[in-house]
Amino acid sequence: MQVSRLKTRILCLMIVNGVIFILVDLSRKLGQDKQSDKVLISDKRFWKKQVVSEAFWNRRQQRLDYFHNPLFTSPVYSNSTSANVEPVVSADWLNDTSPEDPCEPDHAVATQVKDYDSLPERFKDFLLYMRCRSYPMLIDQPGLCSEAPFLLLAVKSLAPHFDRRQAIREAWGRAGLVSGHKVVTVFLLGNAMTTDHFPDLKGMLQHEAGLHKDILQWDYRDSFFNLTVKEVLFLDWLADKCPTAHYIFKGDDDVFVNTRRILTYLSGLKGNKARDLFIGDVITGAGPHRDKKLKYYIPESLFMGQYPPYAGGGGYLYSGEVGLRLRNISQHISLYPIDDVYTGMCLERLGLAPEKHKGFKTFNIEEKYRDNACAYEGLMLVHSRTPQEVIHIWSWLQDPTLNCQTVTKDSK
Ligand SMILES: *[C@@H]1O[C@H](CO)[C@@H](O)[C@H](O)[C@H]1NC(C)=O
Ligand SMILES: *[C@@H]1O[C@H](CO)[C@@H](O)[C@H](O)[C@H]1NC(C)=O
Ligand SMILES: *[C@@H]1O[C@H](CO)[C@@H](O)[C@H](O)[C@H]1NC(C)=O
Ligand SMILES: *[C@@H]1O[C@H](CO)[C@@H](O)[C@H](O)[C@H]1NC(C)=O
Repeated sequence: MQVSRLKTRILCLMIVNGVIFILVDLSRKLGQDKQSDKVLISDKRFWKKQVVSEAFWNRRQQRLDYFHNPLFTSPVYSNSTSANVEPVVSADWLNDTSPEDPCEPDHAVATQVKDYDSLPERFKDFLLYMRCRSYPMLIDQPGLCSEAPFLLLAVKSLAPHFDRRQAIREAWGRAGLVSGHKVVTVFLLGNAMTTDHFPDLKGMLQHEAGLHKDILQWDYRDSFFNLTVKEVLFLDWLADKCPTAHYIFKGDDDVFVNTRRILTYLSGLKGNKARDLFIGDVITGAGPHRDKKLKYYIPESLFMGQYPPYAGGGGYLYSGEVGLRLRNISQHISLYPIDDVYTGMCLERLGLAPEKHKGFKTFNIEEKYRDNACAYEGLMLVHSRTPQEVIHIWSWLQDPTLNCQTVTKDSK
């Protein structure tokens, strides 16, 4: 009796299920019939169509993106007439009168930049050589990284700054074994051209390079707008000659760096934090200055838009891995006349955000603390300091009796 009741119950369930199935199937078929004349997938673009930018840098970048975007160059899409793979193409890409050699002056820019003729000379110099990113090396230091450095200090300098370099060597840039870590220091130089009225410093520089074996020099004009050239040349050098460096500090030659503090910080890093490290005095939400009198002025005909977050060029710290990634991505980013903004642009493309660290004081510390040794003990970098100040502050930090327990928090 029990068994037969169970059987009827199962039978009932099966019948109900069957009815539901038929109803669902029927309604689906009816729905399909109603919509059969409609297209289920939209043929419209699901992103906004790009427009060719008015600004020259942006247009150059759009062009680079076009040629490097695997979507547009992959064979699957190359024949496509489909509307959603329709890149923007500017007339001056097709009618390219630029010389084939990127290091020949590119006179086509005179017609491609709206107000070229009225721009200050430095912009014309920049634009004419914007495509050139390789220059011969005049002074190299082979074998400098034969033993992997834990920290590579790369200091942007100018040929005539002999005293700044010497102060750095005697103070925070002392190479060798520091707190048990191998530290290597290099000075990054372009050429101080006689056309810029520099005296001939070649002989002295060669002597210095032989004496200290820490000078890297390339044959290009060392100017403010060419600092980005210095950046990409350094990244190339890093990838070719020093790819084993664990960490890199890159900064100016008029800063004080607390190397020991940096080494302590780096020794404590692990995992992703160590691999993706990029810290400094990060500036966010900035954009180009439009005041012609400013050093950082950028005309609208050159760049439009906001700057990505970037670390002030006075000095920042990153991992060797990030350095190699920056080097790769930089080949896909047009040179920009302001070097730290350019590095921010590269980081953004890598999907990395530079992290603000309060130890980087690129806008100096409060005046009342500047002669206080303890104010320097806890920070990583301060801008700016003369060679004498660098030597002096360093000597304070060497004092074994220095006791900074009592210093107030706001000095840091
Ligand atoms: C692209 O077009 C060429 C010539 O029309 C054809 O031979 C080739 O197979 C096409 N490629 C693809 C991926 O459709
Ligand atoms: C191509 O460029 C040249 C030189 O800039 C210019 O004279 C010419 O009108 C351009 N042609 C087209 C089709 O844009
Ligand atoms: C950058 O260096 C190149 C090579 O020396 C030079 O031709 C160009 O004028 C320089 N650019 C600037 C903006 O000084
Ligand atoms: C950089 O690019 C080279 C060549 O494509 C590649 O072998 C290397 O793995 C890349 N390095 C990084 C860190 O992405």
